[in-house]
Amino acid sequence: GVYAERSRSIIRELKHLEGPMLPILHALQEEFGFIPDEVKPVIAHELNLSRAEVHGVVTFYHDFRQAPAGRHVLKLCRAEACQAMGGDDLADAARRLLGIDFHQTTLDGAVTLEPVYCLGLCACAPAAMLDEDVHGRVDEHCLGELVAEARR
Ligand code: FES
Repeated sequence: GVYAERSRSIIRELKHLEGPMLPILHALQEEFGFIPDEVKPVIAHELNLSRAEVHGVVTFYHDFRQAPAGRHVLKLCRAEACQAMGGDDLADAARRLLGIDFHQTTLDGAVTLEPVYCLGLCACAPAAMLDEDVHGRVDEHCLGELVAEARR
């Protein structure tokens, strides 16, 4: 497939690094927006690993998407400082508002909900990020506005 073709040169460029797997996966996600299934055997072949090992790494790290994202990505901080400031309730509110769980995309393709582990805004917890913009002290009302903005 086209992803496998394009991935080969990226993988070959990075495979000589020490510990090449994560840099390769980051570069592929940068290129495609997610890690397509068909590139996993290419990585396995180039790095002399099993497909299961590659799949294991892709699923272990929260950073890597298994499917293309929606038009907007809403990330909620799930790390400690935000948890302590009502992050769980906020996560529930986000699930309810969007009708999806983390790592899923709304049916209209508008929003993908993802966890993130610290946005560097701990002093203004709980924090969220809509596309490139970070927001602090996010409450349900603010979350509703972010979702509405993403759906416009
Ligand atoms: Fe959420 Fe740092 S823990 S921004």
